[in-house]
Amino acid sequence: MSLLSEINTDQLPNHIAIIMDGNGRWAKSKGLLRSIGHQNGAKTVKEIVETCAKINVKYLTLYAFSTENWNRPKLEVELLMKLLISSLKKEVKTLQKNNIKLSTIGNLNSLPTKVAKELKDVIEKTKDNNRLTLTLALSYGSQEELIKTIKEISLKVKNNLISPENIDKSVINNHLYDHYLPDVDLLIRTSGEQRISNFLLWEIAYAELFFSDILWPDFNKENLFEAILNYQNRERRFGKTSDQLK
Ligand code: IPE
Ligand code: IPE
Ligand code: MG
Repeated sequence: MSLLSEINTDQLPNHIAIIMDGNGRWAKSKGLLRSIGHQNGAKTVKEIVETCAKINVKYLTLYAFSTENWNRPKLEVELLMKLLISSLKKEVKTLQKNNIKLSTIGNLNSLPTKVAKELKDVIEKTKDNNRLTLTLALSYGSQEELIKTIKEISLKVKNNLISPENIDKSVINNHLYDHYLPDVDLLIRTSGEQRISNFLLWEIAYAELFFSDILWPDFNKENLFEAILNYQNRERRFGKTSDQLK
């Protein structure tokens, strides 16, 4: 029986973020090339995105390529970029059918022109969709994002457009890559690694963390339901005492 029946649909995490890790190890364990691992990882992306739309999660943010991933072998980087283009081309129909809006965060200027063009195209085609916002973190690094934010705000202070005492959470949010990305409720990382790897440092301030040993290509909707159920059995106190929440 599916774990879906146990999920309380009134208490879904509004924003799920996933560090999709383990494609390489998945392939290696089967004696296959890392590229095959990435291809199978793309299949998992499709299943998880469709499932989130189906159960009415509002925001799903996927870590697809980090600023640090540029340091991988050139061939692997090229393959990941090609895979991204082909997946976007192939899945735009799925996004439309499921009323999913595509968005991105990251240093998009550093992406190959072909990738940037395809992304722009899909973002434009899906801009009026409103069931689920799917955000792909591409050439994304949280520290780089925070540096950008601090530079932009400093410049505004210097030009007297904003005064330092008025800098609050919303001012910071307004200078991040995506001004509308809400705080993360549930952060999932697959493959057994228990680290954040420079992902959404600002937005995960109060996220619940869920680490799964499953390698990303093997992660499926039941594993997602398991993570959501686990999340729903936690008490999010946000600094308060348990009694105060009653
Ligand atoms: C995640 O899988 C995909 C990306 C980081 C692009 P990995 O490629 O990191 O797989 P492992 O960690 O080597 O197994
Ligand atoms: C994090 O995975 C980045 C993505 C999932 C895109 P990595 O495999 O690059 O992370 P580290 O280097 O092992 O921390
Ligand atoms: Mg990895």
